[in-house]
Order: sequence, then C-alpha cells, then structure tokens
Amino acid sequence: MRLLYITLSFMFVVLVGSCSQPSPEVQDNEHFRRADSLLQLLTLEEKAGQMTNVGLTAITQGPFWNDFDTLLLDTAKMRDLLINQHVGSIQNKGVYPPCREEWHRIIKTVQQFVMEHSRHQIPVLFGMDAVHGAHYTAGSTLFPHQIGLAASWNPELARVVGEVTAYEMRASSQPWNFAPVLDVSMQPLWGRIFETFGEDTHMHNMMGRAFIEGQQGSSLADTTSVATCIKHFAGYGTPFTGKDRSPALIPEHYLRQYYIEPFRHAIEAGAITAMLNSGTVNGIPGHADHYLITDVLKGELGLKGFVISDWEDVGRLASVHRVASDARDAARIAVNAGLDMSMVPYDASFATDVVDLVNAGKIPMSRIDDAVRRILYVKFKLGLFDNPWHDPAGYTDFGSEEFAEKSYQAALESITLLKNDNGTLPISKDNPKILITGPTSNALTALNGPWSRTWAGDDPSYDDPGKKTVLEAMQDAFGAGQILHTPGTSYEGEVESEQHLLLKADRADMVIVCLGERPATEKPSDIDELDLPRNQLDLVKRLHKSGKPIVLVLLQGRPRIIREIEPLADAIIHAYWPGHEGGRALASLIKGDDNFSGKLPYTYPRYSGALYTYQHKVSDKLDHEFGLDGFNPQWEFGHGLSYTTFAYSDLRLSADTVFTDEGFSLEVSVTNTGSRPGKEVVQVYLRDLVATITPDDRKLVAFDKVHLEAGESKTLAFEVSYHDMQYMGLDNEWTALSSDYEVLVGGLPGELLSGKVFYAGP
Ligand code: GLC
Repeated sequence: MRLLYITLSFMFVVLVGSCSQPSPEVQDNEHFRRADSLLQLLTLEEKAGQMTNVGLTAITQGPFWNDFDTLLLDTAKMRDLLINQHVGSIQNKGVYPPCREEWHRIIKTVQQFVMEHSRHQIPVLFGMDAVHGAHYTAGSTLFPHQIGLAASWNPELARVVGEVTAYEMRASSQPWNFAPVLDVSMQPLWGRIFETFGEDTHMHNMMGRAFIEGQQGSSLADTTSVATCIKHFAGYGTPFTGKDRSPALIPEHYLRQYYIEPFRHAIEAGAITAMLNSGTVNGIPGHADHYLITDVLKGELGLKGFVISDWEDVGRLASVHRVASDARDAARIAVNAGLDMSMVPYDASFATDVVDLVNAGKIPMSRIDDAVRRILYVKFKLGLFDNPWHDPAGYTDFGSEEFAEKSYQAALESITLLKNDNGTLPISKDNPKILITGPTSNALTALNGPWSRTWAGDDPSYDDPGKKTVLEAMQDAFGAGQILHTPGTSYEGEVESEQHLLLKADRADMVIVCLGERPATEKPSDIDELDLPRNQLDLVKRLHKSGKPIVLVLLQGRPRIIREIEPLADAIIHAYWPGHEGGRALASLIKGDDNFSGKLPYTYPRYSGALYTYQHKVSDKLDHEFGLDGFNPQWEFGHGLSYTTFAYSDLRLSADTVFTDEGFSLEVSVTNTGSRPGKEVVQVYLRDLVATITPDDRKLVAFDKVHLEAGESKTLAFEVSYHDMQYMGLDNEWTALSSDYEVLVGGLPGELLSGKVFYAGP
C-alpha cells in the first residue's frame, strides 16, 4: 500500500512537474501568440514607437547631455515620448551611476506612467551596457573585462560573470544587457579589443556561450536572468586602420569562418537580440546590409528576437556613410534591411519617419509587423508584463563579499605572467622594500577601465570606497612600511627627474612599475601609435639605471608595444583591466600566495609594423632571406608563465585516418613537475596541411584548464569534430580537402606535442 502511495505520488509529481513547466518551444509559441494578439491592436504610430529606443536623459530634466548628479524624470518629456509617440525602449543613463534603489524608483515611475496613461500598457524595455558587471549601478560588482575572461581560458568564469551581472541588473530593475561583445578582433590597434574575447573564434564561441547561459539562466522570466544582446553584427572588430567604426575589408568566406561563428554559437545558446556593426564591411554599412541582417542573422542563424541599431547609427547611414540622402531615407534603408529597433537616441524622429515611410509605401507593413512582433515577443518572454520592475530589497547578495570573491577569482585567473627571469617573482626576500610607481599604480580607474560607473570610466569621483588600488593592495600584503611610492609620470605627461627616481629606487630592493593606457572606449580610444607613450618608456629607462630588479605591470586594454623596455624588465605582468579586485589579485600573485594561470588571448606584437595574429599564414613567416623566421611577436597567443612547470606526455589519437563527418578524439597526460600547485591551460590546435584556400598556420579547436598539485598528473580527453577540420570555401560552404592534419597539443610557452591525422574524404 505504502509502495503504491509512493508510486502514485511520484507519478503525480512528474505529471504536475511537466504540466507546470511547458517545454521552451511551447513557451515560445505562447509568447509569440500573445505578441500576435497585441500586435493586432496597435496602430502604425504605436508600432513605430515600439521600434524606437531613446537614452534615459531624453526623459529627464535638463539637456540630453548633462552632468547632473541626480536624475529627475520630466513628466512633460515622458508624456511626449512614451505616451504621445509610444516609445517602447530606453537605455543607459546620465553621467553619475544611480544606486539600485534609485534605479528602482526611476524604472518603476516610468513603467507606472506607461500603465496609467497609455492605451495598451506595454512595459518599456530598459537596456544597459553591463559589459563587466552591472557597472551603471553604484555599488555593483565589477569584474575583469571580457579580454581578461578570455585570458583565464576558463569559460566557467564567464558563466559566473554572466550570472552575477544578471542578478545585479535585475536588482536594479534592468532586464536587458548589451553584452557579450562577440567581435573577434584581429586588429590590436582597435580600442575596443578589451571588450572582446580576443583574436580567436573558438575562444569567442566558448566564452560567449558560457556568458549567455549564465546571464539568461533557465528562463528569461526569472527575476535573476536578463536578455542578451550580442553585438556588433558583424565584422566590427577588425577595422582596416584600427580606428573605431571605420571600414573593414573581409571577404565573405572569412567573415563566415572567423567572425559570424560566435554569433551562431550565441544564438544556439539562446541569445535573443543582436546589435549591429556601426562600421562598414566591404563598403556596406552594417545597418544597411540586408543580406547579413535578414538572410544571415535572422534566417540562417535563426535569431528569434529583434535587431537593434547601435547609437545613432540609422541617421549615420546618411551623415557618415553616405548611402542615404537624409535621416528618413536612412530609416527606409535600415528597416527594409531588417533592423527592428533604432537607438535614436535623442528623440522619436525615427518613429515619425517610419510612419511616413509606411504611408508612402516605402516600407511594407509586413516588415513593421515582423519587427514589432519580435520586440513584443522579447517583452513577453522577459516577463515584463508581469514584473516591469523589481524590489531591490529582495536582492540581498547585491554587491556582496561573495560576489567580490568571484570577481577576485576571475582576476586571479586572468592576470598573465609574460616574463619572469631568474625567479624574480614571487618576491622571496623577507621584508622586502618595494618601490611602486607609474601612472596606473594608485588609481581604481586604472583597474576597472572604461564602462565603469561612467562610459569612459576615467572619473575617480565615482571610486567605490574600500576597493584597493595596486599600491594599497601591496601595502596590505607587505605592510605599509615596506612600500615606497612615487607616481613617476602620468599617462602621457612629464617624467619625474632621474635623480629623484634613483633616490627612491636606491632605498628599495625592487621596483614595480605600473604602466598602461588611460581608460577609453569607442572613438576616444582611437590611437595613432601602438607603442606605449614615450614618457612611460622613459620612466622605465630611468629606473633601470638603479640596477634594482624591475617588474612591469601592464594595466591596459590592448597589447601596447613595449619592445624597448622589455629587456630592462626582469618580470612582466599583463593585467588587462582586471576590475575591482584586480589590485588584491595582483598583490597576491606577486607575493606568491596564489599562482598565475592566465594566457594571452591575443598575439602581443613586438613592432607596430608587424601586427600578425596567431592564425597567420605561412607566407607571413617569410623573412628577408625567404626563410621562415619572419613571425616574431613579443609573445604568442596562448603564452603565459606559472610559478610551477608542466610536462606533457602520451598524446594518443583515436584514429590516424578519418572520413567525411567523422571526428576523432585524443588524450594527453599533463604533469605538474614543479614544487607548487598550479593551473595549466591545455591547448589543442589543428594545422591543415593542404587546402584549396591557403590554410592558417594553426587553429585552436579545444582547450581545458586543469588544476594540478605539485607532482600530480592528469589525463585529459578532447573531441575534435569534422567541423573543426573544415574551413569555409569560396562558395561559402564548409569544406575540407583530403589531406594531412597536424594535431598540436600542450601548453605555451613550450614545444607542443604533435600527432597526425589523415582526412581521406567521403
Ligand atoms: C555605443 C556602443 C555600443 C553600446 C551602445 C549603447 O555607441 O558602440 O556597444 O551598446 O552605444 O551604449
């Protein structure tokens, strides 16, 4: 009897469970059904409003660009934009970062206003650039930027960053994140490479997927999940000159092979909206490219939600790209190309243009209906109609120690040791006297970089109390009395006198010089020269005269060239922009309480005239004598040192010949041969020896990060798929030529183990 009761209850639970939780497809159909019903009720004006996104300061008191330290909503502007013009989406903020209670007040007021005054009570969709944490909310957790996550080679960390970011966004009533950035960047001059996962496609596939799964959770309607906006589709990350928003030249088969793949993976992982490329690819502006937006992104890749423009970019089809005669013509081109929402962002002029264009027969109503249906679908899927705001008091983990610890772990695993001669690090001397200097040595802004409380992230008036700069963290770690400090120089200013610097250095056992670049993104991040500014190089040259060991710490968003000073440094650490806990993480690594495990996510160039990536071709290696020594970066992709050493053995491939659609697996053993525990990144590359399109020198197809105690060995297994063996042919189809492939496995720096597989064709 008892058994029968248990069995029946179990069946009941299973049935109820399956009834109360319909499959994602069924839920999606329901969201679309609701979107369709609502769509039927909307006028053209209301639809055009839903397609419009304005900046928050378009509805606050004062001018759009203001430097107010409080945001007061302006009822007349709200009535005009949200009610009369039906604007359906708002993004970002003014200058200062509101706290989460203030976000709650702002967003609740806006949503209530729409509920009270509009015909259909469609909630407004708020979007944010929470690219390394919910940084536009005061007190939130700030993580390493994406480039640092890539340097950790640990997608689990990206998942955690996604989760915490979503939690802290929802704690601020914000449901939609303009992240992750999936722009593979093969252009180290580009000022936004720090917002990406670096130069490799596979890295973007893995990291992007984990980040999205983290922030979208199991359901977008959960009050701890946010909707993803992947950006900037497609080819934005490799502008020819390196300047932001400038032209890229990428043949379609390369676009597909390197740049579109991360978006495909992201959409498979559930990414629901996408933002477009501000620049042009092969002369076609991203916002006018019907083929890429409609055929590829929505068609082939199957994006279910909507496509938003980047900032002001519809108008720029006329004012910058000159493919449209005026703003209205630009709206015609963009919407017909497949754009669903325009980030105008100052007013609702786009909505007026759309109405006129439809009435004039220049945009079909079916296109508008498709756009609005997608937008409403996202709003339903997010649960906005039920929960248009959230009570911040319910989010007790916001800005918690626990979240700070997660950020600390991410920083620890991302920071990369590039050079360490004669065991300079960790500092082994008892009670060492350390001189700390350089423009990034005592600034929180130098750890967090751009998109930190403000867009540029360079204003110290928004520094979070209690967070430690490198100097402060080093004082905590070694004792304040052990640390000397002098700024040395600013980012681009005068250098302190040699005499003064040497007097300071003479009193120390070693010198830590913190260099780097001033936080900046987008156009303000454009540079004409990849070398670190001359004054910073000079600072190191002057200090070198002291004869004291020198450690360089590079806090910067891209690989600034340091060829001249590299030989003067005994140890070099690349910290990227490691976030709020970066100072603590650096101090702990320098002291040896923790071990380095970061690896470069891009090739670190030696010369500004030699900007290769690791995918380079054999012809890139040709030197002056037609030998093959011409590829000579400062440090290669995947490079990074540890305080311990690792040895690889027993590479075993499951097959020596494979046929079409078959992959193979491999195993390799890795041993910690040093005396300290450490984490190693095991990298698996394929080198295609013959193809119809000149193949890359090698291609990353898998990696794993493994923790090993001193003396410990582990055997790791990897799968290499047939798809990994393929390349994109000129016909834009994945293909492979029957040929040999080298399989290269191991850690860098070091010799990779190699095996061979023959692909025999069908
Ligand atoms: C921009 C950026 C984009 C961002 C948007 C909203 O200009 O290019 O990445 O999401 O504005 O702030």
